[in-house]
Amino acid sequence: MIDIQYDKKRVFVETYGCQMNVYDTELVRSILLKAGYSFVAKEQEADIALLNTCAIREHAHQKVYNRIHEIRRCHQGKSVVIGVLGCMATNLRTDLLENRRLNIDFIAGPDSYKRLPELIAQCVNDEKQWTGDKRRKAYDVRLSEFETYADVYPERPGGVNAWLAVMRGCNNFCTFCVVPYTRGRERSRAPENVVAEVRRLGQEGFKQVTLLGQNVNSYYYQGHDFADLIEEVSRVETIERIRFTSPHPKDFPEKLLNVIARHPKICKHIHLPVQSGSNRILERMGRTYTREDFLELVAKIQRIIPGVALSTDVIVGFCAETDADFEDTLSLMREVEFDSAFTFKYSQRKGTIASRQYKDDVFEAIKTERIVSLNALQKEISLKKNRAYISHCHEILIENKGNKHSPDILYGRTDDNKLVTLASGNHGLGEFVKVRIVDVSANVLKGVAI
Ligand code: SAH
Ligand code: SF4
Ligand code: F3S
Repeated sequence: MIDIQYDKKRVFVETYGCQMNVYDTELVRSILLKAGYSFVAKEQEADIALLNTCAIREHAHQKVYNRIHEIRRCHQGKSVVIGVLGCMATNLRTDLLENRRLNIDFIAGPDSYKRLPELIAQCVNDEKQWTGDKRRKAYDVRLSEFETYADVYPERPGGVNAWLAVMRGCNNFCTFCVVPYTRGRERSRAPENVVAEVRRLGQEGFKQVTLLGQNVNSYYYQGHDFADLIEEVSRVETIERIRFTSPHPKDFPEKLLNVIARHPKICKHIHLPVQSGSNRILERMGRTYTREDFLELVAKIQRIIPGVALSTDVIVGFCAETDADFEDTLSLMREVEFDSAFTFKYSQRKGTIASRQYKDDVFEAIKTERIVSLNALQKEISLKKNRAYISHCHEILIENKGNKHSPDILYGRTDDNKLVTLASGNHGLGEFVKVRIVDVSANVLKGVAI
């Protein structure tokens, strides 16, 4: 480790992408606080600016490039160390390091955060010795088969929900997806280590824990599968709600569904990314299930967990997707009637199987047309499903307060993950409140306390 005497240790960090990145930022905060750094909320006040990035779609990286220029500009020539962390660091390593216009100082991939103090020190030392083109860039984008950060207790901002990664990485190599390359292979944390952290979270006042993993239900540790893990977590008395994301449809044995059905603390909502309703496209995506398999799984889930809410992810305009393929997606959406859906236009990513084997041949205008009609259909379905909540009573957990513009509003969620607004009254964060639903839109329900 390079030893430096450096008093400029104020760090600004910004996070993009999925919940795993939000959690990783909490790990980064913990690691840097221990090393004597402090955090500031404004980029202008920082000596070091970190962007924890996402590489899942094209626009994600353009946004980050723009932010890097903005951060440099707001320092008006004064020195600021800029580091790019996360999935872009592994995905775009060469471009990031060699792009002179960006002129970033270092990059660190998702498995290298324990080395952050060292990487920052390296940049700072170099800045003193070298200038301009001679300056070396620090980097560590190695992926690990073992790193789970099980020994780092994240520095969480507080609140009602705590994220907790129980596994990292992905072995599936869906042809469109960059994650197996940016995050490496699957690895899981010991169950007793997870349970100990959940217990501590409960003692610290968190009401809900959301177990995270790129394929959270592929969790496996020395004979313990995800069903075993979530069952053990549900026995922790101090925590009241348990959620998990993002699961893969291939790992839903009945054992897991039974555990979810049996334990009142495990929320009755499953995110089940389908990606496409066309067998031809599912095969080209390498998703390992057919439309029929997926529909069978949905029926099994609904049979074992009555009243379960389902959400999904869909990609439109994947390579060679025809109108007929897209119609298959629409018909699947009509058949399943997901409670909500995240929809994406296919975005080709460097290094993926699809970028090597297929052509990104669906015109942008067609992708747009398809996503617009898919969203319109889903909005109709969500609204219909939400209307069925009107006049019914539900218990919600208050997770957030309104903003400046609506300070008297609270936001809570039902067990099945519906977002509910509530006039604040005497209620506050972390409270369970019984409400009657009086109005709904496609995205949110309005409740009154009863
Ligand atoms: N592991 C999860 C998904 C993680 S990525 C799973 O397998 O279900 C989150 C979502 O981003 C994916 O479900 C997919 O819908 C979307 N996505 C991933 N790669 C994409 C790409 N190249 N273009 C558009 N959307 C993509
Ligand atoms: Fe990407 Fe597929 Fe892995 Fe999900 S399962 S992270 S979509 S490769
Ligand atoms: Fe993005 Fe990496 Fe998450 S690519 S979606 S930050 S796993």
